[in-house]
Amino acid sequence: MKYAGIIFDLDGVICSTDEYHYLAWKALADRLNIPFGREDNNRQRGVSRMESLEVVLEKSPVSYSQEEKIAFATEKNDLYRQLLGEMGEKDLSAEVKDTLCALRAMGLKLAIGSSSKNTPFILDRIGLGSFFDAIADGNCITHSKPHPEVFLKAAEMIGLDPSVCLVVEDAKAGVEAAVAGGFDCAAMGDAKDDPRATWHLGSFADLVGIARA
Ligand code: BG6
Ligand code: MG
Repeated sequence: MKYAGIIFDLDGVICSTDEYHYLAWKALADRLNIPFGREDNNRQRGVSRMESLEVVLEKSPVSYSQEEKIAFATEKNDLYRQLLGEMGEKDLSAEVKDTLCALRAMGLKLAIGSSSKNTPFILDRIGLGSFFDAIADGNCITHSKPHPEVFLKAAEMIGLDPSVCLVVEDAKAGVEAAVAGGFDCAAMGDAKDDPRATWHLGSFADLVGIARA
C-alpha cells in the first residue's frame, strides 16, 4: 500500500455544506446589491471566510472598512450556522460512511484538513465528531489553502510524512495546497479534472481501490 494516511477536506468532500455556504453568501450579496453567482462561489472553495468575503466584495462599487467587513463575515456566518443547524446524521451519505469505515479497516490513519472554523460543529452534526484520528481546521492555521499549512498540520498530527498521505479535495485551491505540501491528491467535484491531481475520483468510493493499490 502506497498510502498510510488520508487527509480529507470537509466542505464538499465529506458532506455537502457547500450549498449552505453559497446560500448564505448570496443572501449577504443580495442585501448589499452586489451581483453574485455560482462561478463566484466556486472561487470561494477552500479559502478562508475573510478571503471568501473579498470574492463577494470584488464587484461592489463601495469600499468597506475592516470593521464593516468583520460585521459582514459575522452576518454570513450566523446565517450559515442557522442553515447548518438543519443538518443531522442523514446528511452523511451511506457511500461516504461505508468508504470511511472500509479505509479505517485497512489500517489507514484518517484526518480532516479544512479551512473551516465550523469544522467541529459540522462533524458533530453528521455524527463524525469523534471519528477522525486528527482534525486540522480553520481554528489552528494562519494561512488558508492554497497554502499547504492545514494539510502539513494534519500529517504531523497523525505522525506521517506527506509522501505517504493522500489528500482528498473538491477545491482547486485545495489541490494546489496538497501539491505544494508534497502530497498526492485525489480530486473530486469542482476540482475533479484539475491536472495537478494524482487521482480523479468518479465517486468517493473509488478511494478504497486507490488505497489498496
Ligand atoms: C472551506 C470552504 O471549507 O471553509 C470555504 O470551502 C469557506 O468556502 C471556508 O470559506 C471557511 O469556512 P468557515 O466555516 O470558517 O466560514
Ligand atoms: Mg471543499
